[in-house]
This record gives sequence, C-alpha cells and structure tokens, in this order.
Amino acid sequence: MKPPLIVGNWKMHGTQTEAFALARHIRRGLKAIKGVEVVLAPPFTALAPVSQAIKGSGLRLGGQNVHWQTEGAFTGEISPKMLQELGCRFVIVGHSERRRLFKESDQLIANKMLASLRAGLRPILCVGETLEERRKGTMPRVITRQLRAALKGVRKSGIEKIEIAYEPVWAIGTGHNATPDQVSHAHCWIRKVLKELLGEKRGKRCRILYGGSVRPDNAAELGRALEVNGLLVGGASLRARDFLNIVHYFLA
Ligand code: 13P
Repeated sequence: MKPPLIVGNWKMHGTQTEAFALARHIRRGLKAIKGVEVVLAPPFTALAPVSQAIKGSGLRLGGQNVHWQTEGAFTGEISPKMLQELGCRFVIVGHSERRRLFKESDQLIANKMLASLRAGLRPILCVGETLEERRKGTMPRVITRQLRAALKGVRKSGIEKIEIAYEPVWAIGTGHNATPDQVSHAHCWIRKVLKELLGEKRGKRCRILYGGSVRPDNAAELGRALEVNGLLVGGASLRARDFLNIVHYFLA
C-alpha cells in the first residue's frame, strides 16, 4: 500500500506573503517526512512562493482546481500545464464547493480528471453527499454516480495516479466531522465501487482520504477508520501547529 496522504487545502486563504510564511512554518515543523506524503494546496496566486518555501523538503505542492484544456480563450482559468510548471504534483478535482457554488457537473469533472492525468498531475477526486442525500439514505448511490462519471474515461494506465477524497458536504467547515463509523461505512463502499470499476488489484491500491472538519483532536481516530488512507484538511491546515499535529499522527 502507498503511504498515507495528508493534504492541506487552504481554499481562498492567504496572500503570497502569508502563504509563504505558513509554508515555511510547516516546513520547519517537519524535520523528516517519513512514511507519509504531505501536500500543500494554496491559492493559485501563492503557488510560486509556496513552491520556493518547500523546495527540497519533501513537502509536495497541489492545485485546488484546474481547467481541462491546455490553453485557450477561457478567462480566469488555469491549465494543467501551468500547474505542472509551477511544481504541482497534485490537483484537487470536483471539490463540493466547486460542484455546488460553481455548478461543476460530473462531465466537467471527468474532463478535468483526464486533462490532469495527461499533464502528469495526480488528481484528488472529491466525492460526497449532501445532508439531504444522507437523510434520504442515498449516500451510496450519490457516491457511486460521482465515481462512475469521473472515472469513466480514465485508462488503466492512469488509474495508479488517482486519489479519492470522501468529503461529506455536511461535514465541511461545519465543525461536525463524520463519525468513525460513518467514515468506515462510506470508505468501504467507495472501495467496493473502485474494485468494480477498476478491477480488484487497482481498486485496492487507490488511496481514499477523508475530509470534513478534521482537527488535531479527531485526526487519529478518523485516520484509524476502515479504508482511510489519509486526510484532506481545510480550516485546520491554515494553522501550522494544528496541521503539524495532524501530520505527526501519521509519521512513521
Ligand atoms: P474543513 O476541514 O474546513 O471542514 O474543510 C474540508 C475541506 O473541504 C477540505 O477540502
């Protein structure tokens, strides 16, 4: 199995100066990064300074979003090639904030998955149900639809590069994380679907991260839930000490 993956999604937080300082702080707190992969995903404008701040440290850089074309008349968009040139190895695709606030469809997300893989980026595909969908008991159906659509065009060769993040919408930024039982249930379901879609061997190797109100005080128990291979951290990744405490649970 690959090492656990911990990703800090800074969302729309941090000027270049602030992001550089935060990245330096995190770097200083991680003498050796062993047995875990750690990714920082700052806003686009801060990718270059964060890249400088983490150079040679073993910390990795990720984008929060990407367009599916290499270039063109797409005002305000950023291409996979541009992220790659800035030193990104990862990119978050289909975050629920993108789906909900920016109306990203399953098809659009599928295009972004393919474009990211083509550029050599590792896409972190976010899936997850809303509170209403959970109450109606449709979580498995929603997640299956999201996975099936996003992975449809992905060739077998690209599958090794894909990461999945289960982020229940109701747990994001609310302070109410999913319980370890809820996480285990959802992750086991995702694993089952991945095996069906990708084949037993590949489906087993794909990392599944949990995200949604992860904090230092719940990271260890969430990390121990079934089929959890890492965490996608929002708010707590903006505080160096909190993020470092989360990463420390996973260091070898
Ligand atoms: P919070 O950790 O702030 O709930 O955000 C989770 C998230 O959306 C990470 O992508």
